[in-house]
Amino acid sequence: MQARGQWGSQLAFILAAAGSAIGLGNIWRFPIEVGRNGGAAFVLVYLVCVFLVGLPIMLGEFTLGRTTQKNVMGAFLVLKPHSPWLIIGVLGLLSGFVILSYYSVVAGWTMGYFIKTLQGTFVQVSSGEATKKLFTSFIQDGPTVIGLHLGFMALCLLVVIGGVQKGIERWCKILMPLLFGLLLLLVIRAVTLPHATKGLAFYLKPDFSRVTGKTILAAMGQAFFSLSLGMGAMITYGSYLSKKENLFRSALWVCLTDTLVAFLAGLAIFPALFSVGGIEPQAGAGLIFIVLPTLFNHIPLGQAFGAAFFLLLVIAALTSAISLLEVCVAYFIDDLGWQRKKAVVFVALIAFFLGIPSALSFGGAHWATRGIGGKGILDFLDLIFGHFALTLGGLLISLFIAYALGMPKALKELCLETSCPSWLRFFWTWALRVICPVSILILFIHLILTA
Ligand code: PHE
Repeated sequence: MQARGQWGSQLAFILAAAGSAIGLGNIWRFPIEVGRNGGAAFVLVYLVCVFLVGLPIMLGEFTLGRTTQKNVMGAFLVLKPHSPWLIIGVLGLLSGFVILSYYSVVAGWTMGYFIKTLQGTFVQVSSGEATKKLFTSFIQDGPTVIGLHLGFMALCLLVVIGGVQKGIERWCKILMPLLFGLLLLLVIRAVTLPHATKGLAFYLKPDFSRVTGKTILAAMGQAFFSLSLGMGAMITYGSYLSKKENLFRSALWVCLTDTLVAFLAGLAIFPALFSVGGIEPQAGAGLIFIVLPTLFNHIPLGQAFGAAFFLLLVIAALTSAISLLEVCVAYFIDDLGWQRKKAVVFVALIAFFLGIPSALSFGGAHWATRGIGGKGILDFLDLIFGHFALTLGGLLISLFIAYALGMPKALKELCLETSCPSWLRFFWTWALRVICPVSILILFIHLILTA
């Protein structure tokens, strides 16, 4: 039996969990969702989802992980063997594989953009139209995109083979503070651009007439994706936690930093987008790849700055992708007794092959672009696994803790070493018993009725 990994300190755990949370979801996907769903009203709905639904479920995942010291499947095998609740584990593992597969494709794009910026590809390109063309032809180039996807997956593999402390923890500690500093610089430049106020208005002035069931579902899905919830990443990371850490403080830090980074990303993108012109806020998957290169041309030392930014984006993606990989790897190690090395290579290889259709879904291959139900393969998988499955996972996890495990047991684990204040017990209990399941259920029913 191999010894199970453990974090070196509470700070290390928070950085690793924040590393998992902060990723392409914040910098790439959050602005896309804001753009598609009408700007500021979406941002407000999103905040409510994070703190009313996301935070209690994150606490729930940490608790499940730490009590059982197991992965997403193992945790339920220990607590309720041979019960239908195992579906949460199956769903979690499946989502881990699938999300990793397309996440790595987009992360590959950021690697490509890092290299292009270094080479000075964007120096002469100043209009939004032109950067759009460059982006479109880049993602149509199948072999390049697949090559970058492979390169990124190899990076994940190298980190995760190092294990919990020497791999995941060490890298997150260095890379997360760096990402934050650069993002801040970028925001300062963006909000001082000409016409930045138009972008700020789009981003910060809510228009509630645009809020529909779809907006709320998108916000909920985005909250789950961004906080890495609903598929066991936080169960797995919580399982490497010692009994003396304060779970609530950790969860609060992760939610706050994750939300702050997403908010800052929007603050960098929308002023730049309106200032550059020629790009719609609804531009979709390519948003940051089209807006940012144009922005960098307006900045002194823009090329160096741009390269550094895309590099950090790769890093943010890396600290998230390793948690997706670890969810599946931990299962093979804990429950099937595999060696870490074998498990990592196996999972990474499968996720690589699974990602190929996504890599080809923007023009690389006709069938992948046509996709399913009018959506390209990548967008389709993101909808089913990145939005829907995570939200369903969150619903099942809250029901499991509130009604199968029972709040008394869960509260005992949450309040182990540190005594919890009574408002926290109250909030968490009712959030898991009522707020989370009811709000998610209403949303699903609304969706089915309006579909
Ligand atoms: N939270 C990550 C991001 O924002 C993505 C992710 C989702 C990671 C689910 C792990 C689990 O990019």
